[in-house]
Amino acid sequence: KMQMTATLTEALQEWESHQKEFQVIQENHQRYMQNLHEVSEMQSCISATIAHQRKSLKDFLQSLKTKGLAEEETKHVEEIKEHIQERQSILSQMEAFLPKKNGIYLCLVLGNVNVNLLSKRLKAAYKDEYEKFKLCVTVILLLLAFTCRFFVTYRFVDALMNFLLVWYYCTLTVRESILINNGSRIKGWWVAHHYISAFLSGVILTWPDGELYQMFRRQFLSFCLYQSFVQFLQYYYQSGCLYRLRALGERHNMDLTVEGFQSWMWRGLTFLLPFLFFGHFWQLYSSIYLLSMAPVPGCKEWQVSVCGLSFLVLFMGNFFTTIAVVRHKLKNTSLNRSKSR
Ligand code: COA
Repeated sequence: KMQMTATLTEALQEWESHQKEFQVIQENHQRYMQNLHEVSEMQSCISATIAHQRKSLKDFLQSLKTKGLAEEETKHVEEIKEHIQERQSILSQMEAFLPKKNGIYLCLVLGNVNVNLLSKRLKAAYKDEYEKFKLCVTVILLLLAFTCRFFVTYRFVDALMNFLLVWYYCTLTVRESILINNGSRIKGWWVAHHYISAFLSGVILTWPDGELYQMFRRQFLSFCLYQSFVQFLQYYYQSGCLYRLRALGERHNMDLTVEGFQSWMWRGLTFLLPFLFFGHFWQLYSSIYLLSMAPVPGCKEWQVSVCGLSFLVLFMGNFFTTIAVVRHKLKNTSLNRSKSR
């Protein structure tokens, strides 16, 4: 009996400590809910005032006229106009940390749920996860393409791979829309590229087995293998850029300067670009190959010309966008050099 009482006392003591802990949790949670309520009210209030200020600034800008003013007055008005432009961009920076309505695509896929992440840390973590997701799927695709190319020639396994490609590209378009909502400067073409790639993989999925399919299959699988390899290089370059840019933004790593970042970026780019351009010309080759196959009398499949055209669009978009990106970077680098002199 003695032993039982001792155990009961111990149990009661422990229960007491659980009670205390629970009380603290409850109080903290209550405070948290209250803060959450306040934050949500502040978000609506600030969003509304920003919208109001935007509209009134726009009206004000339209009402500002320099016609018939003296030189001094015109200068003054121009200065105000410049300030308004600056103000607009500051307002946009503020909006990056407020809930936002989704665009049409995200509304269709997700409904109107807020996807704006409300801190820099969360935004950065989401971007990292996007890069890692691409890497993981690339490994799976590489294995599948390798198996199909060298070991297994079943239409069904090919279909499995193409199905994965359709799913992957669709997922990327959703993730990229979320990234853009969160302030990423990803070019519209790269997103369009993923829409077109999803379409292309879908068309290949419906291509019936036959002589033409078998002729195209080998080089398509080799291209998939090559693309996965380039994706590894791209991952290394892009995650390196992200890491360095973040360090530069936070300034906790004082060894890193803008020039240091740019020299790393150019070293990465000059290594990557030949591989990228080779991939682009492979897309052009696939397009010419398919389009020259299309008019042959035995060719009845519509997939041949549609895939040929899609490859052509992909080649043109990828090639010209990459050149535009490099030109823009060259201009920025020389601008930076002349500024630092
Ligand atoms: N896919 C997804 N996001 C991309 C991207 C791509 N292909 N290219 C650039 N971005 C993102 C960057 O991560 C960055 O995002 P952030 O604003 O969130 O930080 C933003 O777009 C701006 O990047 P930018 O400075 O213009 O380019 P970069 O230095 O990151 O990359 C290239 C330049 C040319 C290396 C890159 O665009 C690329 O790899 N393009 C080739 C893709 C291709 O042709 N694939 C087919 C191969 S066969």
